[in-house]
Amino acid sequence: MTQHPTSTLDHLSESELTVKLEPELLPKHVAVIMDGNGRWAELRGLPRIAGHREGINSVREMITLCLELGIHALTIYAFSQENWNRPTQEISALMGLLEHYLSTERASLIEQGVCFRAIGRHELLPPSAQHWVRMTEKETSHLDKLILTVALSYGGRAEIVDAVKTLLEDVQTGAVQPGLIDETTIQQYLYTHSLQDPDLLIRTSGETRISNFLLWQLAYTELCFTPTLWPDFRRREFLLALIEYQRRERRFGRVLSTVSS
Ligand code: IPE
Ligand code: IPE
Ligand code: MG
Repeated sequence: MTQHPTSTLDHLSESELTVKLEPELLPKHVAVIMDGNGRWAELRGLPRIAGHREGINSVREMITLCLELGIHALTIYAFSQENWNRPTQEISALMGLLEHYLSTERASLIEQGVCFRAIGRHELLPPSAQHWVRMTEKETSHLDKLILTVALSYGGRAEIVDAVKTLLEDVQTGAVQPGLIDETTIQQYLYTHSLQDPDLLIRTSGETRISNFLLWQLAYTELCFTPTLWPDFRRREFLLALIEYQRRERRFGRVLSTVSS
């Protein structure tokens, strides 16, 4: 969140912030661009991977808070298509971290009732990472307390390209009538077809861009940008973002009844 809207809440404790939440106004689906791990590490004179490692603790806290508050879907951007352009050493460290996370946290995800899904071009991931992704998806597919979607080797434009290709195949076989294609049809061909669009997008680290994330799905999402680096984004920061979200007026192009014409 930009600093000012919630700055009057700075003095409040976590439990006081929680009381300020209105359950019926909570977002149902939160998406997060987890950014700033490298800078967090550099500020401490540590290798970038130390920031990625610390960022996992933020992911854990966010999952817990979503479960506590009854937020049903959390979608996190863990590795973009463009991130393949990073140095090989950082990519392999990130893949190692992904495998470590999935192999060690699977049991805890299951215990908490979290359904894990990955979106993106997984065929590009190393085989061992693909293995852990598939296994975690399989073992958590029956769970529904929280739908945790992790974008891995993900690009929003690539998602649309993949959707168009599959849709064209279905047009060719006659399964879809071109004249009947509408927005719902397109949505059904996206990686996120079973999810409703995010209500809230949070991006950490002070960058104010989308970086090829959920291009279709973010059409009417409320955007929250915070200067906090991802490894420092913990419960309190998330509560502040939720409070800011609740103060927004979602108009969807309409004129609200309270606004005079
Ligand atoms: C986000 O942190 C994690 C990934 C993109 C994998 P960064 O690694 O982008 O951290 P900064 O932006 O360089 O600080
Ligand atoms: C976006 O962060 C991707 C993820 C958080 C996984 P980046 O750090 O890669 O984005 P840019 O390069 O600053 O746009
Ligand atoms: Mg970054």
